[in-house]
Amino acid sequence: MRAPSPLRRFATLLALVVTGFPLVQAIAPAPALALENGLARTPPMGFNNWNSTHCRADFTETMIKGIADIFVAKGLKDVGYTYVNIDDCWALPSRNPSGDLVPDPARFPGGIKALADYVHAKGLKFGLYTSAGTKTCNTAGFPGGLGHEQQDANLFASWGVDYLKYDNCNNQGVDAQQRYTAMRDALAKSGRPIVYSICEWGQSKPWTWAAPVGNLWRTTGDISDKWSSMIGKAQANRGLAQYGGPGHWNDPDMLEVGNGGMTAAEYRTHFSLWAMMAAPLLIGSDLRKVSDDDFAILKNADVIALDQDVLGKQATVLGANAGLVVYSKVLANGDRAVALSNETGATATIATTAAATGIGGAPAYTLKDLWSKASRTTTGSISASVPSHATVLYRVSRAGSRYEAESATLSAGGTVDANHAGFSGTGFANGVNAVGSYVEWQVPGPASALTFGYANGTAAARPVDVSVDGVVVATGVPFPATGAWTTWSTVTKAVSLASGQHTVRLTATTADGPANLDYLDVQR
Ligand code: GLA
Repeated sequence: MRAPSPLRRFATLLALVVTGFPLVQAIAPAPALALENGLARTPPMGFNNWNSTHCRADFTETMIKGIADIFVAKGLKDVGYTYVNIDDCWALPSRNPSGDLVPDPARFPGGIKALADYVHAKGLKFGLYTSAGTKTCNTAGFPGGLGHEQQDANLFASWGVDYLKYDNCNNQGVDAQQRYTAMRDALAKSGRPIVYSICEWGQSKPWTWAAPVGNLWRTTGDISDKWSSMIGKAQANRGLAQYGGPGHWNDPDMLEVGNGGMTAAEYRTHFSLWAMMAAPLLIGSDLRKVSDDDFAILKNADVIALDQDVLGKQATVLGANAGLVVYSKVLANGDRAVALSNETGATATIATTAAATGIGGAPAYTLKDLWSKASRTTTGSISASVPSHATVLYRVSRAGSRYEAESATLSAGGTVDANHAGFSGTGFANGVNAVGSYVEWQVPGPASALTFGYANGTAAARPVDVSVDGVVVATGVPFPATGAWTTWSTVTKAVSLASGQHTVRLTATTADGPANLDYLDVQR
C-alpha cells in the first residue's frame, strides 16, 4: 500500500471542532450498530408531564400548550429544549370501531393532531406515549400498542408525532426485543421520522441489545422527586457509559428539577449528573409554577453543553469512594468535564487530577466551575470542598499561550479596533471585507490545538481557509454568527505542530471578509 502523502497525513490529523454551536457537519458518522433513523444525534431535550401530573386532572391540552408557550417565552427553546411530550392517560379506554386510539375529549378537546400543530407552530416538536403491552400502565387501562403496532404508528405519524415513548406494562410476557423491534419497524414504515424511546425500565438489559432498535432506552425503574431515588438512578446508570452514543442513549429517566422535593444543591447535582451521563434532558416539572432558581438550573448553558457535546460520550467514573464520586467526560474539543459529587451527609474534599482524566500533559489547566462560573488555573490537581449532596462541576482545558490579534499581521486595510466590548487584550482584528483578506500570527510549536477567539455579528458564517506555514490545511472553515459583535465565541482546530516557529494564517473566502478576530490560543 502506498504511504499517504505528508499533506494528506497532516490533513487527517486535523479534526475541526466548533465550540458553542451545534455544527452538524462536525459529527462523526454513527456506529454501524445504532438505529439508523438519523435522529437524536445528541440526547433529546424537552418536556414530559408525567413527573409533575401523573394522570391527575391537571394533565390537559391547556397545560401542554402552556408549556410550549413557556419554552419559547422563557428561552428554553433557545438553549435546546425541543420536544414537548405527553405521557400516559391521553387516550380513551377503548379503541374506536376502526381500531384506532381516541384522544380523551375531556383532556384534549382539540385532539392530538391540533395539539401537535400548535407545538409545531412554535418551532418545537411533539411527543406521545403508549405501551408495548395490551394496556398502558395506569390502572384505568388505556389501550396499548402490542399487536396494533402498524395501525398505531400510522396514526401517530398522521398526527405529526415526532417522538414516541413506548412503555412496558401489560406486556403479556412477550419477549422485549420482539415487542420493541416490532414498533421500531412500524415507525420506520409510517414514513415519519420519530425519535423512539424504549421504556423497558432496564429489565432485560436493553443497553446490550437496543442500540439498533431505539434512540434511547430506560436503564432504571421510575424516578421520584427525592434525593434517594434520583441518586439511585445515577448509580445504576453511571456504569453503562460504553453503551451510549449518538443516536442511542442510556436513559436514567426524566428530570425532577423544579418539582419541589429536593434542595437546590440536590437539583444541581441531578442536572449535573444527567448532563455528565449524556442523558436525555426531559423537564418533568410544571414550568408554569417553577421558581426562577430552578429555571436557572434548567437553563445553565455550560452544563447543557456537556450533555449536548457532539462527541456523545457518557462520563465514566474515575473513582467512587464511600459516596465521594468523581466522574469524567471527554468532550469534542479535547476538554474534559469533571464532576466531584458528594453523596454523603457531610461536607467532604473530593480530588482527582488532570492526568487521571486523560486530557494530556500541559504546563497548566484552566478549571471553569460551571455553576459559580469562576475560573482558576491548576498545574494538575482538581479538588474541591463539596457540601453534602452537592456536585462541583468543572470544565477542564489545557491552558496555552495566547497570541492577541493586536500582534498579528493584517492584510492591507485591516485595522485593530476596540469598539465592540468583551474582547481580550486591547482590541481585535477587523479585516477588510473582501476575499483574500487575512490575519496572520507567528506562533511557537509544539501545539495540539489552535483556538481562535472571534465575534461575528452578522447572520451568516464568515468562512476562512486556514493555512500553516503556507499550506492550506482546512478550507472554508465557518466562523458562525455569534448573534452580536459583542458576543465572543471560539473555533478550535486540533493540529499537530512540531516545535519551532509556525505561521498560522486565516484567509477570508467570501466578500464578507473574516469575522472579527480576538486572539489565537495555542494549546500544547
Ligand atoms: C411507567 C413509566 C413512567 C410513566 C408511567 C405512565 O411507570 O415508566 O415513566 O410513563 O408508566 O403510566
